Amino acid sequence: MTAPTASNESLMEEIVGLCKRRGFIFPSSEIYGGYNGFYDYGPLGVELRNNIKQAWWRDFVQRRDDVVGLDSSIIMHPDIWKASGHVDGFSDPMVDCKESKKRYRADQLFYAPVTLDGEDCGYVAFVEGTDQSSIVKLAKKVRDSLDKKQAKLDEDKLVNEAIEFTESDDATREKTLGPDATAVGTLTAPREFKLMFETKVGPLADDSAVAYLRPETAQGIFANYKNVVDTGRVKIPFGIAQIGKAFRNEITPRNFIFRSREFEQMEIEYFIAPEADWKTLHREWLDQCIDWLVSIGLPRGAITEDVHPTDKLAFYSQATTDLMFHFPHGEQELWGIACRSDYDLKQHQKHSGKSMEIFDEATKSKYVPHVIEPSLGVDRTLLAVLTAAYTEDEVPNDKGKAEKRTLLKFSPKIAPFKAAVFPLLKNKPELVEPAQALYKKLQKRWNVFYDASGAIGRRYRRQDEIGTPFGITIDFDTIEKDGTVTLRDRDTCEQRRVSEDELIRFLEEQIDG
Ligand code: GAP
Repeated sequence: MTAPTASNESLMEEIVGLCKRRGFIFPSSEIYGGYNGFYDYGPLGVELRNNIKQAWWRDFVQRRDDVVGLDSSIIMHPDIWKASGHVDGFSDPMVDCKESKKRYRADQLFYAPVTLDGEDCGYVAFVEGTDQSSIVKLAKKVRDSLDKKQAKLDEDKLVNEAIEFTESDDATREKTLGPDATAVGTLTAPREFKLMFETKVGPLADDSAVAYLRPETAQGIFANYKNVVDTGRVKIPFGIAQIGKAFRNEITPRNFIFRSREFEQMEIEYFIAPEADWKTLHREWLDQCIDWLVSIGLPRGAITEDVHPTDKLAFYSQATTDLMFHFPHGEQELWGIACRSDYDLKQHQKHSGKSMEIFDEATKSKYVPHVIEPSLGVDRTLLAVLTAAYTEDEVPNDKGKAEKRTLLKFSPKIAPFKAAVFPLLKNKPELVEPAQALYKKLQKRWNVFYDASGAIGRRYRRQDEIGTPFGITIDFDTIEKDGTVTLRDRDTCEQRRVSEDELIRFLEEQIDG
């Protein structure tokens, strides 16, 4: 059983509010009331998203000698999804509430006994991440409905004996109060719900035209593995990396962009010899992935590992470890790193009739390679980055009075704007002109912002809220004395004077690493 972890709803609300207010993320189709499970990225969101993808691509593809890139189509031959097992097996267990008409994922729903005066009298069901006081409230509803208002409720059992709803039976369900129901016995038995979006390709509208929006980018890599081997100069071990959209008709898209129906993945299939020491390689990949997350600003302490128990692994999988992050709604999967044996390539070999063997120059042998698969969601990474960066503190305002401030402590590597340039006063051409000149110069290399309006303290604060790491002010000392500018640090608010050369060197070091 996976115990539901505690959530921090207000932090999520603050992040969602800030994202909307400052143009990071909007609900999709908002003018039509929104569309559940879909999100749009605004001017700042698209910069942040692109920076995350570029950092990943640079570190896992361009800066490595053993990984090459790929961009395969979203809609592929439907047989690919038959071979991969998705057509028959890519589903989640779903539970409906006959009263509230709500739908839940059975593996994210838990039930726990309502124990009154030491006796189990019924059950309550609640979704993963529900806080203890809400679970107790549900249990009290059951107690009241049984006319046992004075009975002592065992709150510890409610939390400690929660069981995944997939394990419930008919007798339990009859006595279970659903998360959004008023009476017991309204939840159905779990049944499988297919997650792939179907579409039709070509002029015929019959079943032969059915195709799928890819639910993962990985199969595009397997389907092109032979092309890459035949045309590139790759040799075992090597990886193929891809960034691209994936689509899943999630039963319960939830927690902002954490689980959506359209999202983006950054995946690598790392091909190794069958007799390679996969355990060591798997560990190496885990460490490299953790290091990368830290390099884009996630605190090491917020990342943990969830090793899948051997008896829960798919039959072809040798090992899977998820890197978990402490999101506002609890500790959840961020990055899955799986050893998938030769299963996928062998399936494609069988279904396509094309050999997937590679000739290994080093050992002079031919084989179908095994694979290690690090698979990461762009949107989930972005939510982790926002969670880690969101900070509230107090700083003195222009009049020296302490004022609450909200800031996003993004790493300069991925921040949407790297720096903001300010002339101290907007009505003084002698300040505005050099500020504009510096802005234009920096803009040639980085995404920088120019702001001349309002008190300087307010301008700093506006940039803090969108995570711009550095503020650069052109003031009277710049033009009357030594040409230096004021460089302000977003996190400490410390200011120092630097020459233009020093500024450029500093920015290079902080942004480009
Ligand atoms: N090829 C393996 C694969 O797709 P997965 O665990 O289903 O494995 C990999 O997905 C990663 O993709 C997850 O760890 C997560 O970061 C991201 N992901 C999966 N489903 C998602 C969804 N509905 N919304 C956002 N991100 C998702």
